[in-house]
Amino acid sequence: MQNLLIDHKTNVYTEEKRNLLAKLAAKVSSSHYLPNYHIYPQSGLMNDPNGLAYFNGKYHVFFQWYPFAPIHGLKHWGHTTSENLVDWSKQEIALSPTEEYEKNGCYSGNAIEFQGELYLFYTANYKTEAGKIPKQAVAIMDKEGRIRKRTEPVIEGTLPGLSGELRDPFVFERDGCFYMLLGGSKFTDKEKPGFGDQGVLLLYQSNDLLNWSYQGLIDLPLPTGYMLECPSLIQIDGKDILFLSPMGIAPEDERFNNRFASIYAVGELDILNRCFHADYWDQMDAGFDFYAPQAFLGEHQQPLLYGWFGCGEPDYPVQVGWLHGLTFPQQMQLVQGKFKRYPASEIIEVFTQKQAVKRPKIKTESRNYWLELTEGFNFTIGSAADYWEFQYDTETKLATVSRDNLAKKIDVGYGEKRSTRILNLQKVDIFVDNSFVELYLNQGEQVFTFRVFQDDSDTIVSQQGALTGCLHKI
Ligand code: FRU
Repeated sequence: MQNLLIDHKTNVYTEEKRNLLAKLAAKVSSSHYLPNYHIYPQSGLMNDPNGLAYFNGKYHVFFQWYPFAPIHGLKHWGHTTSENLVDWSKQEIALSPTEEYEKNGCYSGNAIEFQGELYLFYTANYKTEAGKIPKQAVAIMDKEGRIRKRTEPVIEGTLPGLSGELRDPFVFERDGCFYMLLGGSKFTDKEKPGFGDQGVLLLYQSNDLLNWSYQGLIDLPLPTGYMLECPSLIQIDGKDILFLSPMGIAPEDERFNNRFASIYAVGELDILNRCFHADYWDQMDAGFDFYAPQAFLGEHQQPLLYGWFGCGEPDYPVQVGWLHGLTFPQQMQLVQGKFKRYPASEIIEVFTQKQAVKRPKIKTESRNYWLELTEGFNFTIGSAADYWEFQYDTETKLATVSRDNLAKKIDVGYGEKRSTRILNLQKVDIFVDNSFVELYLNQGEQVFTFRVFQDDSDTIVSQQGALTGCLHKI
């Protein structure tokens, strides 16, 4: 009854609500579908990974979080830390929208280390009756983990021709200068409520991370929808990899069938001419539940990535107090120029038991396993009345995941199958972490990220040939 009175769009976390959160977390801890090694919310709804950094001897993962209910309520930044990307310790809420200028939520952003402190950039969401007034803010975390907000945002207001939807700062350093990428929406023709009709990427420059000057829009040789969210950038072997999450891209055969898409582009960010020269680009993920990836450098300067294990507001059959999570941390590589991502070695090392298999049917006796296959690329996982399926068609080269035979239906409005083309499929890695599934083709050339809610997820049955490879358990 009391819950009905809560306005989830204004419900800010304060110290007095600590016990309430502990109660909500206790309920969630008995959920049947919790993962073991994926980061998930102890209560409420988790979305984008934010502020990813290896700082002061630890990995810091911040994330979009509405802690009080599994809905997109007032967004806070949650925070968790780890020394090994495997064992996490929950930290105090990093950012609660307590200030007037962020009254509608602390939205996404990233982190950068400067003079021994970690600068957390984020969008201070600020709504008025006449629309949003965009504000980009910064909070600074010292080595003791104390976080202080600045009294004012560092960038305020929109620009001529752009809508008030301007968000998700991604700050990076290049040639001794700081730059910020910001997602936005421009008016060229039609107007969506609140948005323009073309997604744009803005560039700012700064010398001290506090004073920013607008440089202009970056020319992009790829679809940008009506709004660009969550830009991110990293360098691998001298190439720039740009990540974008555009809203409103129409489906194109097997691509872009989710509510919102995320795209990577490999090439060069030409800051002087404000354009991205892409060697090529593609959608990030072939599956159903992936969005808003963010890249960062790990302890050994290795390029890592987390994505949101979710997308938009999907219709899930189970949401007992918590929703969504993050993907595994993934190590990125360019292999002969090809962009690949694969679970970080720290995750791989969690699987200490290894058993060779060559059988038509495998019983894993566990809800958390990794099956590495070199043959048998047509299989079902689950029971006869409740399974998902992977198929590879050697003629059309289409790899397909079907969720249409699951007993608990998931987001059927957006289709129950996803496919991707892959020419020479040699290896399939299936990571099942209870309801979180990550499926890697050819060591991360293509990836399917998706949720399933099954009671039996440990029976794997081949539909053609023997399942050949290795079963890894924890
Ligand atoms: C992407 C997004 C971001 C925004 C955040 C709010 O999922 O919409 O653009 O900052 O989520 O939670």
